[in-house]
Amino acid sequence: MPTVDNPTEKTLAIIGANDPLAIEELFASEKTRFDKQLAAKVPDETNYNLMKNAWLGRKSGVLTLISENWLKPSPPSLKPTVGQELNKLKRHIETALETYRTTADKSLGEAVAAKDRIDLSLPGVIRPIGSHHLVRTVMQEIEDIFFSIGFSVVEGPEIETPYYNFEALNIPEHHPVRDDMDTFYLDLPKGAPGPLLLRTHTSPVQIRTMEKRKPPVRVIVPGKVYRRDNPDATHSFVFHQIEGLAVDTDITFCDFTGTIEYFVKQFFGESVKTRFRPSYFPFTEPSVEFDVSCIFCGGSGTGASGATCGKCKGSGWIELFGAGMVDPAVYGFVNYDAKKVSGFAFGMGMDRLAMLKYGIDDIQVFFQNDVRFLKQFP
Ligand code: FA5
Repeated sequence: MPTVDNPTEKTLAIIGANDPLAIEELFASEKTRFDKQLAAKVPDETNYNLMKNAWLGRKSGVLTLISENWLKPSPPSLKPTVGQELNKLKRHIETALETYRTTADKSLGEAVAAKDRIDLSLPGVIRPIGSHHLVRTVMQEIEDIFFSIGFSVVEGPEIETPYYNFEALNIPEHHPVRDDMDTFYLDLPKGAPGPLLLRTHTSPVQIRTMEKRKPPVRVIVPGKVYRRDNPDATHSFVFHQIEGLAVDTDITFCDFTGTIEYFVKQFFGESVKTRFRPSYFPFTEPSVEFDVSCIFCGGSGTGASGATCGKCKGSGWIELFGAGMVDPAVYGFVNYDAKKVSGFAFGMGMDRLAMLKYGIDDIQVFFQNDVRFLKQFP
């Protein structure tokens, strides 16, 4: 049988295939050509369409050429063989292309799935872990010390009524002490019950606690307070206080001083010296200011260079907080019998305690959220 470049473009007569055997061979060779072409192409949508067009395409597909050039002009004696072989080849091509398309679809599905698949073995995204703010750490330290001697924590609202912030603490409306603590009043809608203000200290929670509980009471109250103070190195218009209140039937001034000294030595260390100075608060009687020996100059009043210590201004002492024995007048506001109970209260500036303990010379850094500062206290 003569060899030709593309036999399907020629008639059987030209090719010289004039018996059934030669015809079967011709079809077998077309089948092999098809199989080789298909095996050489990666199964995907594009290749499927290319192969389908090349072999089954109506205008110039191989099967159309075979039908035009082999079947139609073939002599009647060979037509049945050509027809049967053509149908056989057609079925083979259709089945093979169908399998090929299924494989292409499957590969496509797998490719999409692989793209979306989560690889759990990959290392995760490492995000920096935050830490407690120094004020929060100090709050926890103070709480732990008071927990160890039987105090528990209570909290109160930051928005207060003048009654709790002032009146029930024995500070009537025109008392001069209000000037020191005057604060931010809320701009309330017309008709709303008021006035309301941002609490100036944590002392209102003394009243709220005693209203709810009967003695013995032993609580501390950490929280934010607000004052119309101009910001400087030791003042902020929002800061933190920790209130303490102990009331029972037999609490004396000695219990008070003992408790405070225990706290200060636990917090600052055994070597620190303490002192009480007379002071005045309308809700304690007697009232005191509590000082500690200056942590920066060791109480000498002079710094390492011999110059006056800037922190205690040469006095050797630093004021820590106000305190005193609860004024009997306060018990009248909470239905305690002033003849039967006694107690003490104190209110510390937490930010200033943190500054002293950790050598920070500007309170403003607590509120600026500068990561360079925060990172120093992980
Ligand atoms: C009071 O607020 C009283 N309620 C404390 C008290 C409680 C006395 C119970 C008696 C019994 P004083 O105004 O002194 O007291 O404030 C207490 C502490 O808050 C101060 O010692 C200081 O450490 C801190 N403090 C006051 N004002 C500011 C401010 N603007 N910024 C930062 N800390 C402040």
